[in-house]
Amino acid sequence: MESTSPSWNKAPDLRVQLGPLELKNPITVASGTFGYGLEYKNYVDLNRLGAIFVKGLTLKPRSGHPQQRIAETASGMLNCIGLQNVGIDEFIKDKLPKLRSYDTAVIANINGSTAEEYYEISDRLTQSDGVAALEVNVSCPNVKAGGMMFGTDPFLIETITSGIRKRTHLPVIVKLSPNVTDIGAMAIAACNGGADILSLINTLVGMAVDVRTWRPVLSNLTGGLSGPAIKPVALRCVYETARAVSVPIIGMGGICSGTDVVEFLLVGAHAVSIGTASYIHPDASIRILDELIRYMIENRIGHISEITRGLKHENPLP
Ligand SMILES: Cc1cc2nc3c(=O)[nH]c(=O)nc-3n(C[C@H](O)[C@H](O)[C@H](O)COP(=O)(O)O)c2cc1C
Repeated sequence: MESTSPSWNKAPDLRVQLGPLELKNPITVASGTFGYGLEYKNYVDLNRLGAIFVKGLTLKPRSGHPQQRIAETASGMLNCIGLQNVGIDEFIKDKLPKLRSYDTAVIANINGSTAEEYYEISDRLTQSDGVAALEVNVSCPNVKAGGMMFGTDPFLIETITSGIRKRTHLPVIVKLSPNVTDIGAMAIAACNGGADILSLINTLVGMAVDVRTWRPVLSNLTGGLSGPAIKPVALRCVYETARAVSVPIIGMGGICSGTDVVEFLLVGAHAVSIGTASYIHPDASIRILDELIRYMIENRIGHISEITRGLKHENPLP
């Protein structure tokens, strides 16, 4: 790797510009794996994070699926939480005011069973103070209505994205599912609908079986696979998305180290999210941020943009 930066011996510049959204650094925490952020305040200096993606929100509170909703797998985990959350009213009344006291971007992950539900949540958050962007979750594999049903159909992705785009001034991030044949086509649909940023990947649909009872381990039969096991799939998805569209990408899927982050940046991500790693060590995101900084200093890289889309290959990223 050649150094292109004259400022390599100084602290690297970690700021990233994701279309209309500027983050102080590219390390964010993934929706559903970090509660509402506040639960982690005793373990993590929240002010150091580039952004907190809060747990997926719905119009009404949800208790999610019954137990058992988590299963450990080789190098990963399955979950069928089923979008348990406090609901949009409680989030705006109780969580958001507390989150406003931290110097980090708060990104709301929004979910609906119908397009109208997405629009109503979007309106409520747009009128509230302290939300930096909306992440439209059209890729949850653990709900019967909405979720991945929307995210595997380009027409529905474009319809929901453009409906939200017309109603909000906030940056719109669309979260894509890996459970499709052509993720590039889904990315194009989201961009046609007006997405400013894409985030990917959500979990892969999987199963676990109990040989003592001959029953599925998870109450919902299937769940979403996350963690290091999915990193190669996530890297391929980010690469294909970066070839298909030019909007900024927030990459995720199994990231556990600073060099994992570098891999995602090289295949086209502009920022990343840490998910399952926070379950192993609650402060994994901060360790990963420090490892990224060390990698940049050691390799004389002055700015994140010097890594993004840097993959050397005969099919270079456009
Ligand atoms: C327990 C759990 C709950 C999740 N809940 C949500 C959610 O509410 N909304 C969402 O968009 N993604 C959700 N995800 C997906 C993660 O945000 C992330 O896309 C995925 O886990 C891949 O990253 P990882 O392998 O680093 O965990 C959840 C993941 C897990 C493990």
